[in-house]
Amino acid sequence: CGIVGYIGWQEAAPVLLKGLKRLEYRGYDSAGIALLNGTISVMKQKGNVSGLETDTAKLREKMPGATIGIGHTRWATHGDPSDRNAHPHLNAAGDIAVIHNGIIENYSALKQELISEGYLFISDTDSEVLVHLIDWLWKKDASLDLESATRTALRHVDGAYGLCVISSREPDRIVVARKGSPLVIGIGEGEFFIASDAAPIVEHTNKVVYLSDGELAVVTKEGYSVKTIENVEQEKLVTELDFSLEKIEKGGFEHFMLKEIFEQPSVMHDVMRGRVRLEEGRVCLGGIEDYLDRLKQAKRIVICACGTSWHAGLIGEYLIEEFARIPVEVDYASEFRYRNPIVGKDDVVIVISQSGETADTLAALRTAKEKGALVMGICNVVGSTIARETLCGMYTHAGPEVGVASTKAFTAQVIMLYMLAMALSKGRTISHDEIILNLTELADLPAKADRILNLDGQIRDIAERFKDAKNFLYLGRGYNFPVALEGALKLKEISYIHAEGYPAAEMKHGPIALIDEDMPVIFIATRDSTYAKILSNIEEVRSRKGRVIAIASEGDKEVARLAEHVIYIPQASGPITPLLTVIPLQLLAYHIATLRGCNVDRPRNLAKSVTVE
Ligand code: G6P
Repeated sequence: CGIVGYIGWQEAAPVLLKGLKRLEYRGYDSAGIALLNGTISVMKQKGNVSGLETDTAKLREKMPGATIGIGHTRWATHGDPSDRNAHPHLNAAGDIAVIHNGIIENYSALKQELISEGYLFISDTDSEVLVHLIDWLWKKDASLDLESATRTALRHVDGAYGLCVISSREPDRIVVARKGSPLVIGIGEGEFFIASDAAPIVEHTNKVVYLSDGELAVVTKEGYSVKTIENVEQEKLVTELDFSLEKIEKGGFEHFMLKEIFEQPSVMHDVMRGRVRLEEGRVCLGGIEDYLDRLKQAKRIVICACGTSWHAGLIGEYLIEEFARIPVEVDYASEFRYRNPIVGKDDVVIVISQSGETADTLAALRTAKEKGALVMGICNVVGSTIARETLCGMYTHAGPEVGVASTKAFTAQVIMLYMLAMALSKGRTISHDEIILNLTELADLPAKADRILNLDGQIRDIAERFKDAKNFLYLGRGYNFPVALEGALKLKEISYIHAEGYPAAEMKHGPIALIDEDMPVIFIATRDSTYAKILSNIEEVRSRKGRVIAIASEGDKEVARLAEHVIYIPQASGPITPLLTVIPLQLLAYHIATLRGCNVDRPRNLAKSVTVE
């Protein structure tokens, strides 16, 4: 979900609305705004932020000159997407309004208690509990104020929250709090912005303060003060944001996703800039330099992540084991955190997260830390919670990724892992010459990626032919097995076609039963060590009338004989290929989805950053 808040001298409604649009990628099944100008007025409804525009205009007429307000865009956890479940939530008197990201785990018990105190609940959300709880505590103890009532309420709450509260009883402030769900305060001239990430803030100011877990802030026109939930004052560091607004606009592309796919060659440069030192035959990774010796001595590396970042982790396993010869395990963060994993001080846990805010990944990080492991992060969003809580780490520098389906962040993560594998191998497991060879190949990547993007037209034609298929199978081996998973994930996320990724040889143990003339099968069949094996797998599919689309290495005639369509990618060695083979699969998913009329940037039910578990 997304949160925005404004307090200052401008009219709040347009600032909030624009902010919500920038946050829509975080959730968009309902949205709402509350303005405060003597009294509180709320507009909220099911659907995306555009739907709120007309109502906001009405709200402005009703409340001209309101310079304080909060807004929310929701990704449902408890309760259907509906007008009633949309935020902000009000108390019965309508003088307190709350917006909330996260999950209140003990909401059911709190709700029962409040109901027995005579409170009426209008929504099915866990969040509504907060507004009534604040109201109740405040009524019980008249010496409280909005800040202390909120603080006391939060002491009763288990779970995660990013929270904004306003009240007409104290009409000059917004109270915000954070635990497990990010919140940023943007500092302007006589005005302050609140948001769940920096995207809505950058156009107003580049000075921000990130709240930490367990902190509560009071923001007025004049300034802000931050305390812990235990009421201890906190000194906060003001951070300068370094991304521009232009970077988060679409830049001439029809969708963010397409823009982000096409940005990959330049992102590849950015990821490697200053890090790949060809002349010296080494990579320089500033964020982990001080820990490199300890990393090299790790008994084992465990990689934890979710979604696409988990796929990058799988490639990382192959890379680190092949080059650095350190055993690697890859775990879903959500599984790792709850299975009492065996990790300790000799282990390194690498968490990978584009957003740096994924709740499960963050929890895995904390579990690993508690157990004494050295925890390292690979994140894209600078200053994100995961980036701040890891002992050391590296930023992918892929720039803001807005499309819900991750593309450029994935390639950036894989490059990071490749560079990490080189750093861990140097002086230990591979020769200087090999490192030079590998880094040269890495440096050639952007040009090769560029050539693949030129195949966009061909890939669109293929998409046209297969757009009505009901199922897809993606098969790959070795380094391209995780790419098969990622290709299938991209397709199902944005086109809603059922797709499965599998290691090609495993096909015989199940998926082969599904193959008939209606089943498109995508093979990643580049020329590497498993090439001959995969050709046999293609034959197996062909003989059962499956329709084969192959991703193959330029100049390969053998595959052309077997497949109905071939997408040729430039030659590359095995460990580099996933960075190339994934690109046609991103484009294929994109075109199939747009040809089916799907909203690729905002696929149904998904969110860009999942800050709930
Ligand atoms: C969501 C997004 C995915 C992403 C995953 C992990 O499911 O829709 O694109 O891969 O979260 O996100 P992270 O920010 O931790 O990489």
